[in-house]
Amino acid sequence: MKRLYIETVGCQMNMLDSEMVVASLRKEGYQLTSDPLQADVVLFNTCSVRQHAEDKIYSALGKLRRHKKQHPEKIIGVLGCMAQNHQRIVFERAPYVDLIVGPGQLQKVPELIAKVQAGEGPQEALSLGRKEGAVEEIKRSHESFDPLRDPEMRPTPFQAYLRIQIGCDKFCTYCIVPSVRGPEQGRPPQQILAEARTLADQGCLEITLVGQTVNSYRYREPGRTTRLSDLLYQLHEIDGLQRLKFVTNYPKDMTDDLLQAMRDLPKVSHYLHVPVQSGSNRMLERMKRGYTVEDYREMLGRIRDTVPDAAISSDFIVGFCGETEAEFEQSANLVRESRFKNCFIFKYSERPGTKGAELYQDDVPYDVKQRRNNDLLAIQTEIADEENQRFLGQTVEVLVEGPSKRAAKQYDDEGPMLQLTGRTMGDHIVVFQGNRRQIGQILPVAIFDCTPFTLIGEVVTVHAGPELLALRP
Ligand code: 5AD
Ligand code: SF4
Repeated sequence: MKRLYIETVGCQMNMLDSEMVVASLRKEGYQLTSDPLQADVVLFNTCSVRQHAEDKIYSALGKLRRHKKQHPEKIIGVLGCMAQNHQRIVFERAPYVDLIVGPGQLQKVPELIAKVQAGEGPQEALSLGRKEGAVEEIKRSHESFDPLRDPEMRPTPFQAYLRIQIGCDKFCTYCIVPSVRGPEQGRPPQQILAEARTLADQGCLEITLVGQTVNSYRYREPGRTTRLSDLLYQLHEIDGLQRLKFVTNYPKDMTDDLLQAMRDLPKVSHYLHVPVQSGSNRMLERMKRGYTVEDYREMLGRIRDTVPDAAISSDFIVGFCGETEAEFEQSANLVRESRFKNCFIFKYSERPGTKGAELYQDDVPYDVKQRRNNDLLAIQTEIADEENQRFLGQTVEVLVEGPSKRAAKQYDDEGPMLQLTGRTMGDHIVVFQGNRRQIGQILPVAIFDCTPFTLIGEVVTVHAGPELLALRP
């Protein structure tokens, strides 16, 4: 038996990529292990969005240096965005790495591992950079091999991600993604639908469609263009599927057809992650986001007019080049007024190779970034707490995902009752006391308490209608 250890960092795209890699290696007889020291092949599927994520991988590689010296036959591979971004630098900083594979070349992993094992030395497979050929050629060098899936790698047996798009063409000035993941390409709708049907047949209740700018999805065929809203209508017909989500959205492409599909299709989750990045027009301009704060506000208004109960979340970057205190305050004000469900807040991290790194100075000191990060988080946390209190006394439909983190630590497999966790249609996390049989069901849960991050409830087991109440003494 051959053993494989894989560690994945970064976005849902990476989770999916790892799922495919594991599926392809299972075909070669590999089994997963949770201990890198026991593994014959150790893979890191990496992220380059921030410096910190890359540093962590080099540190993890450093920890394997001695092990590899003692067991030279073991294979260490760096996959994903950092592989594409750093290329040979990975070999220079960690010369014992055997494999460098970019996110558009992952289908080659089994073959490259075989080559290393055959004594052919270190292997690399990288896609073309954005200036290394004609557009079609570059596109072809960024492939995704989605039909291969591995159920064990999914978030849960009844939830799956489904890629509908690869790459990104927006070129926000701070972002490395367009250069490492290549041009935006929508997958053919027929492929997406076939994959969704397979997932539904395997018992998936919830599918999350993923793309860097998922709502920009377009697939053009002679005489027909398929948009995300069209895909949602088609996916909605699939028996067995109960919930459809999609991440991440680009503000400028939040069109009315999509919002109307969300309103009209009961299986579509009322949840939208639409990163704004900043509340300052000057920063947005420098980031080349292509919209103003006023545009974003107008979009929030349209979302709430069409889908009044939509839960909206956002991303912010604090301390982008030249961000003044007054400009940061504008982000704070946007958080105050927008009433997001939650926000992901990031300290700007300069990425060599981006326009941002070339044009602007990363001049906001680290401690100022840190303070702005904390301040924004504190404002958002207060809002999330207030928003969650609106659920008190309400009953929500929860897809039960499994034991909560606390239960997993405290009880393990013991006892009939344990704390379970799941999510509402609006992506709110709910915890409640339950039993294992309830995992994978969609249940009504009455909410009686909350924190800024969690709703706390009780499963509604009896519906005491007026007839029942009338029987009471
Ligand atoms: N520095 C900090 N945050 C970044 N993001 C993307 N690039 C950077 C960077 N260079 C953030 C954005 C994006 C999220 C996935 O990561 O907010 O929405
Ligand atoms: Fe990066 Fe902007 Fe593309 Fe998002 S839309 S992946 S932030 S370039």
